Amino acid sequence: MCGIVGYIGKAEKKKFLIDGLQELEYRGYDSAGIAILKNGNISSFRALGKLENLRQKTKEFSSSGFGIGIGHTRWATHGKPTEANAHPHSGEFTYIIHNGIIENYKEIKEDLQAEGIKFLSQTDSEVIVHQFEQFIKKGLNSKEAFKKTIEVIEGAYAILLITKDEPETIFFAKNAVPMILGQNSCGEKFMSSSDSPLIGHATDVIYLNDGDFGWVKKDKITIFNGEVSIAPTFVTLGRDKIYAQKDGFRFFMEKEIYEQESVVSETLMGRVNDNGVELDELKNINFSNINAITICACGTSYHAALTAAYLFERISKIKCQVEIASEFRYKKPLLDQGTLFLVISQSGETADTLEALKMAKKAGMKTVAICNVDNSSIVRLSDATILTRAGIEKGVASTKAFATQIVTLWMLSLYLGNKKQNISKKVLQEEIKALLHTPSVLHVKDSIHEKIRRLSKRYLHGHGFFFIGRDIFFPLALEGALKLKEISYLHAEGYPAGEMKHGPIALADSELFTIALMPKNMLYDKTKSNVEELSARDATILAISPLEFDLADDFLQTSLQDHPMSEFFEMMIITQILALEISVRLGNDVDMPRNLAKSVTVE
Ligand code: M6R
Repeated sequence: MCGIVGYIGKAEKKKFLIDGLQELEYRGYDSAGIAILKNGNISSFRALGKLENLRQKTKEFSSSGFGIGIGHTRWATHGKPTEANAHPHSGEFTYIIHNGIIENYKEIKEDLQAEGIKFLSQTDSEVIVHQFEQFIKKGLNSKEAFKKTIEVIEGAYAILLITKDEPETIFFAKNAVPMILGQNSCGEKFMSSSDSPLIGHATDVIYLNDGDFGWVKKDKITIFNGEVSIAPTFVTLGRDKIYAQKDGFRFFMEKEIYEQESVVSETLMGRVNDNGVELDELKNINFSNINAITICACGTSYHAALTAAYLFERISKIKCQVEIASEFRYKKPLLDQGTLFLVISQSGETADTLEALKMAKKAGMKTVAICNVDNSSIVRLSDATILTRAGIEKGVASTKAFATQIVTLWMLSLYLGNKKQNISKKVLQEEIKALLHTPSVLHVKDSIHEKIRRLSKRYLHGHGFFFIGRDIFFPLALEGALKLKEISYLHAEGYPAGEMKHGPIALADSELFTIALMPKNMLYDKTKSNVEELSARDATILAISPLEFDLADDFLQTSLQDHPMSEFFEMMIITQILALEISVRLGNDVDMPRNLAKSVTVE
């Protein structure tokens, strides 16, 4: 995820901006840049890679004395990580930085190009600066031009803009992406994506709301929301940096669970409209002779793959086979050029997945990666990549990466179903509706978190956990069990609910905990009978379902949804929080569990 900072005051601006960006490093980035306006001149610097490269580039530059500045770290979404795509983007007299996605950038860009504007980057963000300057050229003053620009753009954004037209002002706008304004008693003003760059500088902050925009001068902050003028509401800023990086959550994993709502919106952004799914990333791949899919992955990404196999067969009507990468490598697989080879990886560096991809490439297969890290080894090697846009994931136990992988794979199944003309208009529209409903399903309600926290104390012992489910809820059961074992160190297995009677039911007694995923929209009665069989053998049942279930020892009620995928995401959140709360009660290190590494780059 990109990071932004801004500064108005007399101190060395370069220092605050680059140090501030360093504080946002944990969000992940592939390039960085700053722009400083002082004495009517704007100096701008951009560098690929680490912030150290930007420090080197600005070594000779100094900016003390009153001035204003903006800084940005970019996590590539539209356009490769290159210096030209790094922010700030400039027009003739204005510089902007932007975090988020401008959904209607193509239309705006075409209109501006028709008016003779030349674009220098492949980003969606660049339209903002040119649109603003066009409004100025048409006679608006800078405040009117900024307001009008915000009215024109659609999507998610945190924007800072500086212009020679108003050299002591930083313009800002926020929608669905965080932005904070800060101040101190020395007359300095600050802007940032999160608290941590502000700690030690600002004393009071304003957490902007969606739709807020305005301008900051050294002595005044002006905020509007639509036509309404908003009185700035300051709160005192805390002082703990690590706490700030976690946005106030106890653990990165917890923060990442709560972030799923917003990162999934980013995954969807610009890719889904009422008519279907558009994946520009795949425009150079010819799918006409593809008649099957093989997916290769490890761990959580493998569970995403298993889920996707149901979707590819059911929605796209394409045969799909899923392989654990470490097994695939040595089984001497039969590789066929009519099969699309899909790899899924959060890090893009997992050795087994990378090697499997090399084998597919060597066999001349078409390869597509679903990955979270642009420019990673897997991305560089694949013919095409769909980035999941989860932002950096710090918790070793993967959460938001899984959610964004599933959403990406769901989009891909619709895209392929449509391309192959295997999906009716009616089904496509129902699926799109459910897909767009996903972010709201991922909102974590305080009441359910609190209920899981209280309930978790009953699940700290016993001789094992079985997570059970059917259809797509079977891979979710596997993922729930993996989450629990990774951070609680308790034995847990995921199982297809209907398979328990073929062996594992022998383990059933009151010390066997069964976490039963019982969605209303997917084989409810069948799953219910399987859970009844376990209950009859005295297993302790924690049922997760929208429908009351008399035999449950514990019951977590989900909401009534129309689509199984909505139920999938709601139950996913519950299993993640259950693992988290059990781990907390056991006193384990939630973010860095024993024996595990975030990225497994060895066999
Ligand atoms: O980066 P990748 O998605 O390729 O990583 C694969 C697995 O190592 C990873 O999912 C692992 O299982 C996580 N710790 C799961 O929480």
